[in-house]
Amino acid sequence: MKKLIRFTLNGSEVSAEVPSHKMLLEVLRETFELTGPKEGCGQGECGACTVLVDGLSVNSCLYPAFEVDGKEVTTVEGLIGEGNKLDPIQEAFVEHGGVQCGFCTPGMIMSAKALLEENPRPTEDEIKKGISGNLCRCTGYVQIVESIKKAAQKRGS
Ligand code: FES
Ligand code: FES
Repeated sequence: MKKLIRFTLNGSEVSAEVPSHKMLLEVLRETFELTGPKEGCGQGECGACTVLVDGLSVNSCLYPAFEVDGKEVTTVEGLIGEGNKLDPIQEAFVEHGGVQCGFCTPGMIMSAKALLEENPRPTEDEIKKGISGNLCRCTGYVQIVESIKKAAQKRGS
């Protein structure tokens, strides 16, 4: 069974006809050609596919595409501002070594975004908890936590 869904994707109104078994990750990557969200485990365990739905972080590999009907979806591509300006979180990852191979980075950044929207001044423990669903196989956690700390400072300044 297919269903027509309409939703806001990175600020634009979009629609798609999606089969009932499709997960949001597949629709984002295949229909909308947004390759920021990655498929790591495909089972809700690595966070590489993290996007925001109505401001909350979700694992898009497990989120049925049907369910975004009428909602607002943001991927890492949607954080880029006018004139291709990076979001302060993206800038901080670049400046403070939060990116190694980059596979986990879009998911980490989206989890950080959800965290900082809810808690603009997180403690180190709160940052670690905020990204606890995101795995980095390059084990760059020290720089990732530092990047999110710096991003919080940057956003607050
Ligand atoms: S690909 Fe979705 S959590 Fe790993
Ligand atoms: S930077 Fe390589 S998986 Fe995190």
